Order: sequence, then C-alpha cells, then structure tokens
Amino acid sequence: MYRSHNCGELRMEHVGQTVTLSGWVQVGRDFGGMTFVDLRDRYGITQLVFNMDDDADLCEKARKLGREFVIRIEGAVRERSNKNPNRATGDVEIVVGKMDILNACKVPPFTIENETDGGEDLRMKYRYLDLRRPQMQENIIFRSKVAIEVRKYLASQGFIEVETPNLIKSTPEGARDFVVPSRMNKGEFYALPQSPQTFKQILMVSGFDKYFQIVKCFRDEDLRADRQPEFTQIDCEMSYVTQEEVLNTFEGMVKHLFKEIKGIDLPDIPRMLYDEAMERYGSDKPDTRFGMEFKNLNDLAKGKGFSVFDNAEIIIGINAEGQAENYSNKDIKKLTEWMQRPQIGAKGLVYVKYGLDGSVKSSVGKFYGEDQLKEWLTAFDAKPGDMLLILSGETDKTRKQLNELRLEMGERMGLRDPNKFEFLWVLDFPLLEWDEDSNRFHAMHHPFTSPKQEDIPRMLNGDHETMKSLRADAYDLVMNGSEVAGGSIRIHDRELQSKNFKLLGFTPEEAEEQFGFLLGAFEYGAPPHGGLAFGLDRFVSEMCGSSVIRDFIAFPKNNQGRDMMIDAPSKVDKEQLDELGLALKEVE
Ligand code: AMO
Repeated sequence: MYRSHNCGELRMEHVGQTVTLSGWVQVGRDFGGMTFVDLRDRYGITQLVFNMDDDADLCEKARKLGREFVIRIEGAVRERSNKNPNRATGDVEIVVGKMDILNACKVPPFTIENETDGGEDLRMKYRYLDLRRPQMQENIIFRSKVAIEVRKYLASQGFIEVETPNLIKSTPEGARDFVVPSRMNKGEFYALPQSPQTFKQILMVSGFDKYFQIVKCFRDEDLRADRQPEFTQIDCEMSYVTQEEVLNTFEGMVKHLFKEIKGIDLPDIPRMLYDEAMERYGSDKPDTRFGMEFKNLNDLAKGKGFSVFDNAEIIIGINAEGQAENYSNKDIKKLTEWMQRPQIGAKGLVYVKYGLDGSVKSSVGKFYGEDQLKEWLTAFDAKPGDMLLILSGETDKTRKQLNELRLEMGERMGLRDPNKFEFLWVLDFPLLEWDEDSNRFHAMHHPFTSPKQEDIPRMLNGDHETMKSLRADAYDLVMNGSEVAGGSIRIHDRELQSKNFKLLGFTPEEAEEQFGFLLGAFEYGAPPHGGLAFGLDRFVSEMCGSSVIRDFIAFPKNNQGRDMMIDAPSKVDKEQLDELGLALKEVE
C-alpha cells in the first residue's frame, strides 16, 4: 500500500494511529539528533520526524533526501510540541519508522513553491514541475470544478453535450485559421475550428434544441495575457429562444457557478447598450468595478480659441479623484509620454488640477480662465484634490485612448480590486464594422448574427451609410473588464443570410463555396435559434482575480505560440512533406 492518508489529511484525531503516506520531499531540516522533512502532495504538507536515537540508519537516510524525492513512509501520528497554525496539518507530525525511496530527483531548476525563483520560460520548459507548485495545483483544480459545475448546471437545464469535429473547413470568427494538410487529398487542407459555430447551428436544424460543449478552439492571432492560440469555450446554442431567454439561461449559469464554487450570491447582472458603453467608457468591455466615467466637454471647451480643441471632433475626459497632489509636473509628463506610445498614440494629454487649497492649475491655462476651468470641474463633480485628464480628437480613436488611460489610472489608484466581481451584459452591438484598410464591411460578431428585428427592413433596402448604423441581436458578457462570453441570435433565413454575405463582400459563389452546407441546411426547416460561447480560460482566471489565462491552462503556449516543454512547433522530415505533397519555400 502506498498510502493510508494523503499529506493534507491528518489532524489531532489521528494522534496515535500508524499511517502510510507517499509524496514529494518539499524540504528537509537537519538538527543533529533529529531530522524533519516536509512531505507534500496535492492535498497539503505533513511534517515527518526522524529520530537519531530511534533509528540512526533511517535518520541518516532521511538526511540525504534531496528536494522532490518521491518517498513512502510509515509512522505514528503524534501531537506537535510547536504547532504551525498556518498549515492544516500543523497540529501533528509523523514519527517515521520505515521509509522507502520510490524515486530520486535531480536538483529542480527552480523552487517548487508559490513564490518560485523560476522565470517564465524555465517554468514553461519544466511545466510538470511548475504544475506541482501549490498555486498552480489550486488553479487547475479550480478549473476542473468550474467545468464539472458547468456540466451539472447545463444538464439540469436540459442541455446535451455533443462533440463536433476538429478537422473542418474555415470558420468565420475573423481570426486566421490553423491549417492541416490532407495526405489523402493532396493539395487540400483542413482548417482547425475557430469555434464550432456552424456545427452548432446545424445541430439546431437537426432538432437538438439545447446544445453545449466544452471544446477547444484554435485561432492564429497575436497573443496577449488573455489570448491563447488554442483555448477552451463553453459553447452553447438553443432553438426557439429570444435574446432575453439566452441571457437569463446563462446568467443563471454564472450565478450557479459563483454560488457553488465561491459561495457568493451574485446580484442580477446589469445591462448596457453598446452605444452607451462606448460613450461612458470608450470600450465594449468596460471594467465596472470603478466609476471614472467619461464626460464630454465639447460644449464647455470649444470655441474659446484653443485650436486643438476647436478642431477636434470630441473632447472627453475623466476625473482621477484625489490625484491632484499626487501628480507633479514631471509625473504628468511621464503619463503623457505613456499615452503617446505607439500602442496608444495620443497626441497629448490635458490636465486640470483642483488643488486642495481650491486653486486651479491646467496645461491649457493660457487658453481658459479660472472661471471656465471651474465650469469643467463642476461638469465632473470634481472636489478639491481631484485631477481631470482630458483628450481630444476623432471620436472612436479618442475614446479608445481615454479607455486605456481610465484603466491605467484605475490600476494605479487600486480601483481594480481582484476580490470584486462586476458583471455587465453589453447588448445591441453594431452588425457591421467598416474597415478602412480593406474598404469593406466585416461582421462585428460573425456573419450568422441576426440584425435586430426592427433593423431588417433597413438592411434589405438601405444605402451604404444605413448599413453602418444597423444593430445586431448580439451580446457580450463582461466580467471585470474582460469579455468572458459572446453570442447572438442567428439568421435562420436563407435570403437574409445571403444578403448579409453580400454586404460582407462575398460573391454568391464564394458564400456557396465556403458556407454552402449551412445555407443548404437553412432550406430544410431551420428553427429560429441563438446562443453564445464563454471563454472558459478567461472566465476561470477572472473568477480567481487574474487576467493571465496561461496560469489556468495546464499546458499553455508562450507569447510566440510555442510550447516550450515539448518544443512545438517543430520541423517535419522530407518524407512527411513528400507524403503530403508539400514543399517548403525558403523563408528569410
Ligand atoms: P467569440 O469569438 O466572441 O464568439 O468567442 C467566445 C469567447 O471566447 C473567448 N476567446 C478567447 N479566449 C482565449 N483566447 C482566445 N484567443 C480567445 N478568443 C475568444 C472570449 C470570447 O468571449 N462562435 C462565437 C460564439 C457564438 O456566437 O455563440 C464565438 O466564438 O471569452
């Protein structure tokens, strides 16, 4: 027998029992007459004692144990004289009578503790060791709990889980596809699914009116802390539902998960229209853990001779409460430079500081008198000590920039509390997005998203400008400023779908070639349907107060899309290429 108990289990009630434990050596401490070893497994750590007087040979063997050796011990549980209140097993220890070394371990490249000395690359290379760290174990176990509760909840609501294929044809989520060459059909390629979107819609046509799947999706896009090239969705679809029913069903799921896993009763999730979110926060995924909402100063600041503002489409700002005294001119200069980095691209940053003594100082003091600046302060409900930060320019760009500044200030001011959970449904996204570079419309969500019912006549008959104002029956769920789910009510009518493809610049032949199977299915009695998909990685990490999804994925890729442990992607041999009918080009 390897173990009668695990390393997190023993308490005072076990004192006097003889137990068998197996695990990893966390650390050993040698005190001459006695040697202590901390034995670890995923359940916790138990202290072992080896006594020179009892068994000198055994004690000697224990002294030689290295970190991460795998051992099995047998011994008697006894009460500790100096208890460790920070450890669940801290009241007891085991006086070891027998020990087997089950496996030795090379010196690990970093310490297997929460605060490790290993850098990211090293930890990824030795992911099996990294995953032994208690924090990582907690993360992966937490994720498993969420997945189990998702299945429980959805099953209780009558959903069935259906698997869909991974070797498919391009799906329309708007990222680049990963492609897989076909040996049996040389010169042809599968695409890995960016999502099971088309399949779940087909399942609706087949009559499986409540579908879900916890499923891997693949997107070849630039990576960030909250983006991986392969990630997991809780993908869902329902027939005969309105937007309201979809939102309620999945709001129910979110509440269930918080209740069951974190013991938190979430209030109803507020809702906001996309346009309002853009106006108030400059983002379709606002972090609503804090206020600092945008205010428009067009009326107060235009026409006073400051040409930058006079020529701007929009003048908007935020109030960084209580920050006036914290920001010297040098700090403002640094913040301005931060805003001017190419990633954000602001031209400049205007401030108005409302001193605690009631004084008003501003970078545009030359153009606006104190009375005028005080009007701005009033518009923001500013109090002495507050600081306004103002940007101007073209509407969309300026909003985006101010959103970045708002998030940065929120971060600096400690307003993005990881222990707070704020949700928001963002509704009625635009149907189409005009892309200046390619001079064409893109689907804001995906091409199967339905316009709002009342916008359909305008879609069928409107001109180019009208198309920009069409609203979609599309919704996102935002959690602490992260988009954790997105979905829509779908088009289920072939004619409307064809019109949408046309607007998106597909010729009928192209639409047929890419999505003919779905268009065909729509001709055989497609029910009205809609759904959504949660990003499981994002949802789980946000539930734990983090936005770094790799810490919640057992084997993630790094920022270059590499798996450092298995060293992928990698080259293939010539024979393999020949078999696939492929030749490599010289790439610089
Ligand atoms: P969407 O593209 O919005 O919708 O994706 C759904 C959710 O998946 C998560 N997500 C990601 N997570 C990690 N890494 C990525 N690269 C990544 N990309 C997306 C996000 C997002 O909200 N088929 C539609 C869903 C539908 O309409 O039902 C879809 O895939 O949390």
